[in-house]
Amino acid sequence: MAINPRFLDELRNRLTLSEIIGRRIKVTRMGRESKACCPFHSEKTPSFTINDDKQFYHCFGCGAHGDIIGFVMQHDNVSFIDSIEMLAAEAGMEVPKQTPQEVEKSKKEKDLHALLEEATLFFEAHLHDQRNGDALGYLLDRGLTKETLAEFRVGFAPDDAQALRKFLLAKDYSDKDMITAGVLRKSTRGGEPYAFFRDRIMFPVPDRRGRIVAFGGRILPDHMRPPQRGDFIPPKYINSSETPLFNKGSMLYGEPIARRAAADGQAIILVEGYMDVIACAQSGFRGALAPMGTAVTQEQILSMWKMIPDFTKIPILCFDGDGAGRKAAWRAVDRILPLLEAGRSVDFAFMPDGEDPDSLIKSSGAKGFQNILGGSLSLFDFIWNYYTAGRGFKTPELRAGVIKQLENEVARVANSDVQVHYKSLLRHKISETFFKRRSFKGNKYSKAIGVKPPRPRSYQSRAAHLFPRVLLASIINHPNIFGFVEDELCNLTIKEPRFDKLRQNIIDILSDDHAKNSDILLNQLENLGFAQEIGDICNESVYVHASFCSPSASCEDVQSNWLEYYNDGNAAGLGDEMQNGWRSVSCDEDVSRLRDLLYTKSRDGETL
Ligand code: UTP
Ligand code: MN
Repeated sequence: MAINPRFLDELRNRLTLSEIIGRRIKVTRMGRESKACCPFHSEKTPSFTINDDKQFYHCFGCGAHGDIIGFVMQHDNVSFIDSIEMLAAEAGMEVPKQTPQEVEKSKKEKDLHALLEEATLFFEAHLHDQRNGDALGYLLDRGLTKETLAEFRVGFAPDDAQALRKFLLAKDYSDKDMITAGVLRKSTRGGEPYAFFRDRIMFPVPDRRGRIVAFGGRILPDHMRPPQRGDFIPPKYINSSETPLFNKGSMLYGEPIARRAAADGQAIILVEGYMDVIACAQSGFRGALAPMGTAVTQEQILSMWKMIPDFTKIPILCFDGDGAGRKAAWRAVDRILPLLEAGRSVDFAFMPDGEDPDSLIKSSGAKGFQNILGGSLSLFDFIWNYYTAGRGFKTPELRAGVIKQLENEVARVANSDVQVHYKSLLRHKISETFFKRRSFKGNKYSKAIGVKPPRPRSYQSRAAHLFPRVLLASIINHPNIFGFVEDELCNLTIKEPRFDKLRQNIIDILSDDHAKNSDILLNQLENLGFAQEIGDICNESVYVHASFCSPSASCEDVQSNWLEYYNDGNAAGLGDEMQNGWRSVSCDEDVSRLRDLLYTKSRDGETL
């Protein structure tokens, strides 16, 4: 859609840049200019300036520069057209439409949006009405703060089939529009139309621009409202049906917040339900999203990739740790394989038995959840585990059988560049598993090629915990590089004490005898009580991130990659700063800066 430049000028003139920015970040006025801490890089003293007369912003720290449209695009992580639509709405202007049909359609949609906005206000007011104190109490008991309730605009639909209708009729909305918008149902017995949501906690569903397009309504638990209607058990959640504004299969709950989080470098995390998204956001995982009552669709996967502004786009999909969760994860694989492209994939995180992200955060805190995310499996590893877990491969027929199944999956990767790499990784993995098993006993991977349930990690991100593991695994598998890397290994500080001890013991052993071979070194380390640590380090979940540390890597490969990996990691702060950083975090800004750093590295880690 081409937009008339005069319209854009008018838009810029009607809006005040510092005001629009001030609605998103804290802005301090200083004479003709305004200042803020730059939202596009992390800093403590403001170098981000806003000039309302000249209608641009400029950051002296990172060089970010642009006008009001550019700001909204970059900050809210939305397209050019979306940012213009959003700004036009704030300015009370109409984006010029091409055809009369477009004009008509846009007017209808605007009416429905306005209607749903009013309904949202109605539900919000009822949640804070004294008469519904028990509903509010329930949400607060579940650990949601008032700020969170306000941010997600959580509300309550009273147990009154006509209340919302009366409220909206008084504002000149018609029954017809209320029915179209999904808040009212036609009576089948010729009576008045009645409210679809009654006596339920209301979760308004915003579209990516933040306009409410649908609702989910949660029933109050039995102890608060025993079911009255005999054997009819009402569903826990009901959702708006499809409307002209609400296409279930393409929408995700939590999108506006997650988009901004993704622009800030936070991970996109797919969870199952409303409460999971809200609990995640409240504890700092603002990239959380959920499909509404359906399995994740291809459209939703594409939409998550789109939200991530970097080249490497790997949202984490969370599933329950039980059989149903694994099945659901497998259904997702089915949809994702044909969509894969260079730089695009998903990771899988499995919750501990009986937990969802909301309950996990409640019981183990943000850290507990982060640990589970840190142990997430790559798409490839999940597929591999799915076919190999708990199966024996003693005979050629069994081996050929599983290889065939895996090859069939790989063949479903439509993108040929990606498929090539799947094929070669598969070959590599097959030869490692079937032909080059490690000889020592402590290696879990060599014992069973089973699912490794995500183990709690003491590091905060995949890359941070991988850094020392990759470095140590390379040395254990290739002790002959010790002479080249001795100084670095001595200087390396590892936060996890058991791995730091392992490092010191490796140095001790190899300093005495540079020419040790891997099996002898392994034996000695196991005798010193490090079998567990070695099992944790020398396995496929580490090798898959840096092939040079695997036993099958060539000596030249290890030599040339180890130092580079070490230097890159240190330069990015994965060495010292990471470790000291988490010890000394003192304010939210530090946390978010570290999270950025970790996240950046975890993304880059994928390509190391
Ligand atoms: P869950 O039953 O896991 O609910 O359904 P939840 O999100 O953990 O909610 P709490 O913690 O009990 O409050 C997960 C999602 O599946 C959809 C909803 O979107 C819900 O958030 N769902 C569930 C329905 O659409 N209908 C239902 O009857 C149940
Ligand atoms: Mn739950």
